Amino acid sequence: MKNIILLGPPGAGKGTQADLICKLCTIPKISTGDMLREAVASKSGLGLKVSNILDSGGLVSDDIIGSLIKDRLTKPDCQNGSLFDGVPRTLGQAEQLAEMKIDFTHVIEIHVEDQIIVDRMSGRRVHPSSGRNYHIEFNPPEKEGFDNETGDPLIQREDDRPETVLKRLNVYHEQTKPLTDFYKNLSNIGTLKFFKVDGSKSVDKVFEQISNQI
Ligand code: AP5
Repeated sequence: MKNIILLGPPGAGKGTQADLICKLCTIPKISTGDMLREAVASKSGLGLKVSNILDSGGLVSDDIIGSLIKDRLTKPDCQNGSLFDGVPRTLGQAEQLAEMKIDFTHVIEIHVEDQIIVDRMSGRRVHPSSGRNYHIEFNPPEKEGFDNETGDPLIQREDDRPETVLKRLNVYHEQTKPLTDFYKNLSNIGTLKFFKVDGSKSVDKVFEQISNQI
């Protein structure tokens, strides 16, 4: 049973590594970013509520995130563990997850300097329905502009505009980065393993650092 949290700034490569880890460990990816974008795309009540927040690079409320996670964890594919991509993002969310009694086995911080992130985001392309990520230079699809598995067209995310990326980085440093100390402290008193990897290396090298530890 593996319950893994991936922490790191926007564009650190969490989604990219999440897909690889999920294949390696045969666990599902729980990405609140993907869930919220799906809600926006389907124009559901939730989607209409959060659409502006996503576009502006702010954070959706802890209450909304808490109920999304609670609901997701009732699905049978989570029985053998899950990979939490981009959640928790605030101390409030970390406390909510603790109350759900999820037995976290690993917390992985993917560290990347801000300037590298700004450069990366402009080249990101996404397959909207699966959340699969590509980069026009560093991780290109087999056929330019199209998803490798389905052949669907790829899109550029609305919140990847440079000014929004800078706002998302600020939000990360203020509200999410403190979680690294929160989980480091927990790892000192329990069985949880916390480790940090250098996310500025190639996708394969980052995955090697992670797979060596899990
Ligand atoms: P979310 O979708 O979670 O976005 P994020 O955390 O900002 O992270 P990204 O998806 O932008 O980046 P990533 O780290 O996954 O990197 P990726 O692998 O794509 O959230 C979006 C929004 O939803 C938030 O802003 C917020 O509004 C809301 N939200 C979501 N969860 C929330 C929560 N819990 N609470 C409140 N609000 C929430 O890689 C980036 C690019 O780099 C890609 O093009 C990729 O191909 C490329 N790349 C990846 N690895 C490498 C590498 N090693 N070398 C070179 N290029 C690489």
